[in-house]
Amino acid sequence: MTRLLTRLAQVSAMAVVALLPQAVNANSGMPLLHFSADSGNLPSVQRGARNFMAYCSGCHSLKYLRYERIGSDLNIPPDVLKKNLMFTSDKLGDQIKIAMPAASGDWFGRVPPDLSLETRARGADWVYTYLQSFYLDDSRPMGVNNTVLAGASMPHVLWELQGWQKKAEHAAEGEHGAEHGGGHHEGSPFEPVSKGTLNPAEYQGFVGDLVNFLDYASEPGKQARISTGLKVMLYLFVLLGLTYLLKKEFWRDIH
Ligand code: HEC
Repeated sequence: MTRLLTRLAQVSAMAVVALLPQAVNANSGMPLLHFSADSGNLPSVQRGARNFMAYCSGCHSLKYLRYERIGSDLNIPPDVLKKNLMFTSDKLGDQIKIAMPAASGDWFGRVPPDLSLETRARGADWVYTYLQSFYLDDSRPMGVNNTVLAGASMPHVLWELQGWQKKAEHAAEGEHGAEHGGGHHEGSPFEPVSKGTLNPAEYQGFVGDLVNFLDYASEPGKQARISTGLKVMLYLFVLLGLTYLLKKEFWRDIH
């Protein structure tokens, strides 16, 4: 019995590990901020969806996702969806395409990639850091660069919210700069140049909502998978108890 129980504990531990998301780190050498994406945080994912449609869907598609799926997964009624989220199309069954006509979809020499699988490809930490790492750089055609994606051709579309920042003096000398601290928050490789409409904590929250939404978009069925997994485990444990009682009942008169 003890052996059976130990084995069962091992198997369930393995099942639990299999349910956890894999941490992918495609780090380009810059230290990444840490963010554990939570696509189960419904209010955050809803805010992220609204903000994605407002700030990102002009250039980036989410071709594996349809509006009606967002509506049913995120409890957004169709009329609210149509009014507040659907800028790129008016049919609920449509995939989320970019608002720009195809011919002008080529931005600054690079086509903005589809972001359906972005958090799985790059990892949540990467996307979270990327959206906070645009800085002023005169050597770039748009005057902006990014520490995690050097030479990025995406403009800093959230500059009104975050404000502008430049590389901190110590950080410009090399990657180790970040370890010495300083900047507007501890260990930041940046120095603020101008204020945005959000304070740094609010901006982090804003970016966090976007990453949670992208994490949801990369696997819309995840919450259902987790809850099914937990139900199955619970069922198996109840069954184990019953089987044990049954075994005791069968052997009662034999011992
Ligand atoms: C004006 C068009 C435009 C807008 C608006 C825009 N992007 Fe981008 N984005 C781009 C382009 C172009 C690239 C490609 C950058 C490169 O590879 O140099 C890019 C790249 C990215 C990447 C990195 C992709 C990768 O893995 O290399 C992420 C993540 C991203 N954008 C997220 C966002 C989010 C989130 C928003 C909304 C807040 C947004 N973008 C709004 C044009 C845009």
